Amino acid sequence: MAELHAEAVGGLIEWAGPAADEVLEAMTARAERDGFPTVGPEVGRALALCTRLSGARSVLELGSGFGYSAYWVARALPPDGRIVLTERDGALLADARAYFERGDLADRATFEQGDALDIAEARTDTFDLVVLDHDTADYVAGFEAARDLVAPGGAILVDNVAVYGDVLTPDGLLATLDGEEPPNDRTRVVAEFLTHLRQDDAFETYLLPVGEGLAVATRVQPSKE
Ligand SMILES: C[S@@+](CC[C@H](N)C(=O)[O-])C[C@H]1O[C@@H](n2cnc3c(N)ncnc32)[C@H](O)[C@@H]1O
Repeated sequence: MAELHAEAVGGLIEWAGPAADEVLEAMTARAERDGFPTVGPEVGRALALCTRLSGARSVLELGSGFGYSAYWVARALPPDGRIVLTERDGALLADARAYFERGDLADRATFEQGDALDIAEARTDTFDLVVLDHDTADYVAGFEAARDLVAPGGAILVDNVAVYGDVLTPDGLLATLDGEEPPNDRTRVVAEFLTHLRQDDAFETYLLPVGEGLAVATRVQPSKE
């Protein structure tokens, strides 16, 4: 995984804690074996930190895979907290449920199979946090589907917005945001997404240099003015 800082910092973040439990270790081994793109241990901890600091009790995730990022969030929720996982691949979602059961966290989770955008659009309840980790090309659509489910004080957390191997780099992204021709499609869609976020006055966005880059868009107004 491409990272925004020296590998040693990632090692320190993992060392400082909180420690992964045996379920997270099993998920990490599986991701390495299958080459599955989880958010990784830094972003997992950053999501848990946001959950703890915000006192979130309700979380919706778009693009849950076999549950790695959602599991970090679920551990940081209060016992009566809830996370909704969404995933189009039924086998991955079944594995997520099994990992949550193994970690005794299944009573904090619901597992929704289908298109995450359709699921978000159909919901009428609100969430303290929404995590976007579905296809990058659909981030604008995912954000629009989720934005009105988050009340002021809540946030939308978005992974993979700064680096992706040699394809997405901070230099290429900044140049694109400055008006240059994007070097490739991924840089174009991430630049379009970050621009979309910045133009939405209802959100104030912070970009954290963890993993491949985590945008934290905090809701500061109830609606677009
Ligand atoms: C990068 S993986 C990350 C999964 C998870 N967040 C993690 O940390 O392990 C993205 C997942 O989102 C799913 N996905 C992508 N677009 C989706 C969509 N529109 N609806 C439902 N699932 C989607 C993919 O099938 C994949 O499992």
